[in-house]
Amino acid sequence: MAREFAKVGVVGLGTMGAGIAEVIARTGIDVVAVEVDEEAVDRGRTHIEQSTARAVAKDKLTEDDRAHLLARITYATDLAAVAGADLVVEAIPENVQRKSAIFAELDGIVGQETILASNTSSLSITEIGVHTGRPGKVVGLHFFNPAPVQKLVEVIRTVVTEPDVVTDVVSFAGMLGKEPVVIGDRAGFIANALLFGYLNHAVSMYESRYATREDLDAAMRFGCGYPMGPLALLDLIGLDTAYEILETMYRQSRNRLHAPTPVLKQMITAGLLGRKSGRGFYTYD
Ligand code: CAA
Repeated sequence: MAREFAKVGVVGLGTMGAGIAEVIARTGIDVVAVEVDEEAVDRGRTHIEQSTARAVAKDKLTEDDRAHLLARITYATDLAAVAGADLVVEAIPENVQRKSAIFAELDGIVGQETILASNTSSLSITEIGVHTGRPGKVVGLHFFNPAPVQKLVEVIRTVVTEPDVVTDVVSFAGMLGKEPVVIGDRAGFIANALLFGYLNHAVSMYESRYATREDLDAAMRFGCGYPMGPLALLDLIGLDTAYEILETMYRQSRNRLHAPTPVLKQMITAGLLGRKSGRGFYTYD
């Protein structure tokens, strides 16, 4: 019998975690959202409040539905709050040690049947899963930014993920109104493996002053129908996140396409992280 998803935990309320919590609560499911401290909880809550206000302003949500959505999310700073969840989605920063530690801790908190999922963009689900006593119930559940808007969800299965867990997670993603695709555990999965070589190439063209940032972005928007140019997209993703993804893919594949362009690291060191820091390739209010 298919699993029910009545209560879902979301660990980490950055851009992705907050978006994921919003999508799940929008579907009528109770969400327990966990962050490290009150300040981080407040940032996550504000993100969800602003995003859902935008959805109302754009006629994507009624005021009533927004109120119900917000009421379905409870916030906590203690991981133990996810006890009783049918599924936990982890969305903390891309660090395999930290993610593995969270999974090991979650393993001791939730019931035996609970599925543990990571929203990692490129780290190995297999490597994270072995830190639990239930690697067969560990999957990747990879959303795209902005999570309330982008339809794709990648479901990543490892060599030990139980087939019915994959089936149930795929139908869960469908319940959320998403388009799920299933893929094995290889850095970058499908979309990032294809996307990041292109983004990295754009940075290298920018670095060599081959064209201005505006012209690089305009070319892909107006010539290829992309909703955003590559540099604007990198600002949305976050330069630090993009760098981590490229590094992980490069380490695994040794494909030079994915060797991070040096200026990326320099921009990160200088604090230019994209939209979230107010400045990346472009400047934001
Ligand atoms: N809930 C529901 N819908 C919402 C919403 C919310 N909280 N907020 C906005 N929307 C809707 C809007 O109503 C609008 O819908 P319509 O098109 O029907 O009018 C749509 O979302 C777009 O929103 P906006 O009008 O606010 O913004 P925009 O038109 O300027 O588009 C964008 C912004 C969605 C980011 C678009 O430019 C886009 O799709 N860019 C590409 C993003 C992309 O490639 N993401 C993937 C990044 S890679 C990744 O995420 C993987 C990784 O691991 C790093």
